[in-house]
Amino acid sequence: MQNSLIEKIGIKYPIIQGAMSWVATPSLASAVSNAGGLGMIGSGHEPGEVVRNLIRETKKHTDKPFGVNVLLLSDYVDEVVDVIIEENVKVVTTGAGSPGRYMSRFKEAGIVVIPVVASVALARRMEKEGADAVICEGMEAGGHIGKTTTLNLVPQVADAVSIPVIAAGGIADGRGMAAVMMLGASAVQLGTRFVVATESIAHPNFKKAIIKASDIDTVVTGQITGHPVRVLRNKLTREYLKVEKQITSDPKPDFGRLEELGKGALRRAVIEGDKDRGSFMSGQCAGLVKEEQSAEEIIQDLMTGYKAVILKQRELLALN
Ligand SMILES: Cc1cc2nc3c(=O)[nH]c(=O)nc-3n(C[C@H](O)[C@H](O)[C@H](O)COP(=O)(O)O)c2cc1C
Repeated sequence: MQNSLIEKIGIKYPIIQGAMSWVATPSLASAVSNAGGLGMIGSGHEPGEVVRNLIRETKKHTDKPFGVNVLLLSDYVDEVVDVIIEENVKVVTTGAGSPGRYMSRFKEAGIVVIPVVASVALARRMEKEGADAVICEGMEAGGHIGKTTTLNLVPQVADAVSIPVIAAGGIADGRGMAAVMMLGASAVQLGTRFVVATESIAHPNFKKAIIKASDIDTVVTGQITGHPVRVLRNKLTREYLKVEKQITSDPKPDFGRLEELGKGALRRAVIEGDKDRGSFMSGQCAGLVKEEQSAEEIIQDLMTGYKAVILKQRELLALN
């Protein structure tokens, strides 16, 4: 398969593993890259030298391109950027803001820069600032989300910018992949399905919860804080939403109670598998994820399903 984006990055398939705090480790990233996709390491709030070790660990397991997600809000962002450049990382994705102040250094180093966006306005701004592509993440996605669905965001951004668009949010199989490619995407980014990959270090309880989930098992917490997060329903989300409701009607809202509930909650889910107190970030597509598979099986399943859908459409339209 050929398109300008995958040629630029040097990968075989237009499939990116989303950066996921605690989950996007060298073991998952290298497995995805070895399988022909683009593996991503999450740098989170880690200092530069920790990120350097993660990059070197990934290089030990793959000679294929992989990327690093930069958390622009991190206190260590400057040193993380230095390390990424020194270590010749191929791709950088960014969330929560604009990578503008680092753009010229990334470009000089030949790094492909791909910010995550949730609106047409931000996509346009990223293009102006020199981004090579944008990841359009719809509100079906797991983790921190925007307001627009993938179905609406992808074509509107594709119309608004001339750089490649990558679709994220709600894609778990070849049908979803075909759908967003038809909307104008050049590649897809998946999070939820890769949490369940064999090479993902997510606790078995996390993987089981995704496999067991149905279409209506996620909720969005944090609406009132302005940082909405999509997670699987559990005791923590019930408590969180109850406090949110109380705060909404409070003339002097105490956000501290919410902070307390959320602190360390993703770690509790990924590492400890704490069913009650963990934040099991997951997209609505959890209902489509039926089993744990290796990164390679996931990527092959996506590509097979994608091709089958396209061939079926060609038959229906009697094209040759
Ligand atoms: C457990 C989990 C943690 C995530 N953490 C991050 C993160 O730290 N940074 C980020 O940019 N996106 C994060 N995401 C979003 C993913 O990178 C990806 O864009 C999203 O999961 C795609 O939607 P899907 O879940 O429907 O596949 C996370 C998603 C999940 C499921």
